[in-house]
Amino acid sequence: MAGHETTATTLTWAFYCLANAPWAEAGILEELDRVCPGRSPTIEDVDQLDWCRAVVLETLRLYPPVPLLPRQAREADMIGDIPVKKGDLVMIAPWLMHRATDLWDKPTHFMPERFADGVKANPFVFFPFAVGPRICPGMNFGQSEAVLCLAILVQKFKVRPRAGYVAEPVCRLTLRPDGGLPVTAELRQKAAA
Ligand code: HEM
Repeated sequence: MAGHETTATTLTWAFYCLANAPWAEAGILEELDRVCPGRSPTIEDVDQLDWCRAVVLETLRLYPPVPLLPRQAREADMIGDIPVKKGDLVMIAPWLMHRATDLWDKPTHFMPERFADGVKANPFVFFPFAVGPRICPGMNFGQSEAVLCLAILVQKFKVRPRAGYVAEPVCRLTLRPDGGLPVTAELRQKAAA
């Protein structure tokens, strides 16, 4: 669950988002033409794949693979006007925080440019990898892996969900489209030919 499903669902949602944002997919292809023309991207290219990273981060904002973080209160406290007793279970929901209208401009829109040019979001507003002492230890690995896999796959394949398909997000430990994402993957060279 920790190391595979999280990255896999990130990629699934990224393809869903890209299918509805052709300009964002065009941005990835343009970046790949610039950074690694005529060859597959490698791990050495990841630092330069800024737009791919922005697409991954915006996907993680809209569809955080871990949408709920359970925490237990060490001591009594207040959250707003809600009293919390020592030992209470508190559910923190990136799914809601990442879409809060008072924290984000157009929260339900897919806008990778929020994260372009190395812009860093407040870690207590955007936390797909959690925050604090139990932050995901695979964060940098997972992020680089997702960026590289997305770059390799987008360069090679045109991935298109079934026409008219609308995903129903469900939480089965990780957040995923109910029933899986039905897609057709077409080799780009073949598409061009
Ligand atoms: C996009 C990819 C990933 C996302 C979104 C993600 C997200 C998270 C989140 C939110 C947590 C905290 C859960 C909680 O405290 O309730 C977590 C924990 C963890 N993650 Fe990841 N993760 C990803 C990739 C990875 C990878 C690639 C690895 C290993 C190579 C990994 C290993 C772990 C482990 C071992 C924990 C438990 C840490 C602990 O409890 O102290 N994750 N991850």
